[in-house]
Amino acid sequence: MSSEKFYVTTPIYYVNDKPHIGHAYTTIVADILARYHRSLGDTTFFLTGTDEHGQKVQKAAEEHGMTPQQQCDDTVVRFKELWRELEIKNDKFIRTTDDNHKAVVQEIMQDLYERDLIYKDEYKGFYCVPCERFFTKKDLDEKLCCPECQRETQEIIESNYFFRMSNYQEWLIEYIETHPDFIQPAFRANETLGFLKKPLGDLCVSRPKARLAWGIELPFDKDYVCYVWFDALINYISGIGYRRDDEMFKKWWPASCQLIGKDILTTHTVYWPAMLKAMGIEMPQSILAHGWWLVGRTKMSKSIGNVVNPMDMIQKYGLDAFRYFLMAEMTMGQDASFTEDAFVARYNSDLANDLGNLTSRVVKMTLRHGNGVIPQPGELTAPENELNAALDNAVVEMEKALKTMRVNQGLDHIMNAVRAGNRYMEQTAPWTLAKKGETGRLNTVLYCVAEALRKISILLDPVMPDKMTALRDALGIKEAGEGHLDTLKQDKNILSGLQMHDLDALFLRIKPEEQKPEKKQKKEKKSEPPGEGLITFDEFFNTQLKTAKVLEAEKVEDTDKLLKLQIQVGEEERQLVAGVAQFYTPEEMVGKNIVIVANLKPAKIRGIKSQGMLLAAKDGKDLKLITLDGDIPTGSSVG
Ligand code: MSP
Repeated sequence: MSSEKFYVTTPIYYVNDKPHIGHAYTTIVADILARYHRSLGDTTFFLTGTDEHGQKVQKAAEEHGMTPQQQCDDTVVRFKELWRELEIKNDKFIRTTDDNHKAVVQEIMQDLYERDLIYKDEYKGFYCVPCERFFTKKDLDEKLCCPECQRETQEIIESNYFFRMSNYQEWLIEYIETHPDFIQPAFRANETLGFLKKPLGDLCVSRPKARLAWGIELPFDKDYVCYVWFDALINYISGIGYRRDDEMFKKWWPASCQLIGKDILTTHTVYWPAMLKAMGIEMPQSILAHGWWLVGRTKMSKSIGNVVNPMDMIQKYGLDAFRYFLMAEMTMGQDASFTEDAFVARYNSDLANDLGNLTSRVVKMTLRHGNGVIPQPGELTAPENELNAALDNAVVEMEKALKTMRVNQGLDHIMNAVRAGNRYMEQTAPWTLAKKGETGRLNTVLYCVAEALRKISILLDPVMPDKMTALRDALGIKEAGEGHLDTLKQDKNILSGLQMHDLDALFLRIKPEEQKPEKKQKKEKKSEPPGEGLITFDEFFNTQLKTAKVLEAEKVEDTDKLLKLQIQVGEEERQLVAGVAQFYTPEEMVGKNIVIVANLKPAKIRGIKSQGMLLAAKDGKDLKLITLDGDIPTGSSVG
């Protein structure tokens, strides 16, 4: 068992909108890497979270009629829910509005300011609102459009604080050139080096509150907040105890792998290394930029309306198939195209045909002969050696793939081993051996294919944890240690004598015309196309239901129907006007634990602000509040 350290991070996601497959992809890659390393016995830490400050979030909050904090609190739930559905096993979820993170950012800024690495200057520049970035005229084309997103920029003159990023240009070029694994894939390192050919300016790290109030206040100037990227990048160290817990920080830093999308290369391979250097902190071992998921050949965008919602895919095809598809279909570093047809084609060929068939043949044959007890093998011959070679190759290649973080390459070799398993079945024809009564040879074949499935299930476990657990259960493997990657190299027979169990088809074939697995699957219920009056799972979750407690209640003047309530929802206090006055007195309402629709657009009822709606059951003239059966903190999600 190895005992190395593995610290993996994802970008932290903006909370201006709900997550899509781009976000899901990065988080699944990190999860799979973390699972592999855990199963190798490496001490592993996986950090993800949300980027909650800055203009994008402030703007979204304004559009939704919420405070920025409410916008964050509401949207973070979407991310957390999706990560739960995707079975993401992160060790920590950081929010940049966490008090600890804010304090660490302030301390870092204060320190850099005192060391004159942050200074004040007047700035004349061009600002891109969507990218939240400043540019000088020389960065822009003649139309003064943003070089990142090609949208128009705005000219701005103001006093601001600057980080002396230019100090680090020469050092950074040399560092990248002498550390070929630092930025991956290599062509992205070249892209950064190309960027560094132009003189590197200092980085504007403040925003005047008059223009943007939603951010971390500068500790040395209360009129400014910190630039969102400077704040956000620090999560990678504040999340593991920087300036708070030296032991923890030393344990995890430097990060082994920082996953990013290609669009945030400059911030991670120029700003971030310069910041770390200024702080006197070691560089991460690697920053790995993946490509983009396109829909067909088109960029995913809300305005085009082609954004792929991961929840829909999970509900329709099951979680493990979705995780597998994302991993297998995208070559790390390149863009990939998402279409449902491509999904169905890969699902049917790799999962239903190759893996699904092998599994059901092995299980059925073993159950039929010898009552499902996995037999002792006899002497191994050429076909067994060929199968074992394919399996050994898959193990070696997966290990290599893990070192370079190219999970998709490892998967190719695992699927080759699966196909070798099917070929082996054809070649050895255990059904004929059974008919002929060649029990010794039959036993060898049944053992070898069971062992092949055991190895495959372990190799694929980090990608498809549920299905692979089901597969090992069917093989009769119960003990936790036997599901680990390092057991693959032991030449030990742990299967003979185990009792196999039948299992439902692992992956039911999808008929293209239906684009839906043939029989009922675990989560399929939710995926039925909505009929008249029905809503999808996702539509339901557009409504955020939360628990709340009534703190105060009073009658609204000039009406006998309304009560004005002050309620507690998590850390937030809200006011809500409810039409319950004919059924409950204000005194009866106080202290009640209720359920509210938390993301209802705020409204004024009789001139009184109301934020949300409480749930109640109504039957003719009777009304009863929906209350909670037991204690649970306010602000908990209901659904
Ligand atoms: N908040 C910043 C990151 C700060 S990290 C210190 C941010 N957030 S984001 O929510 O806009 O994007 C997060 C990640 O999602 C980025 O890595 C981005 O590349 C990725 N993706 C967004 N759309 C994508 C696709 N269509 N496909 C794949 N990934 C994409 O940037």
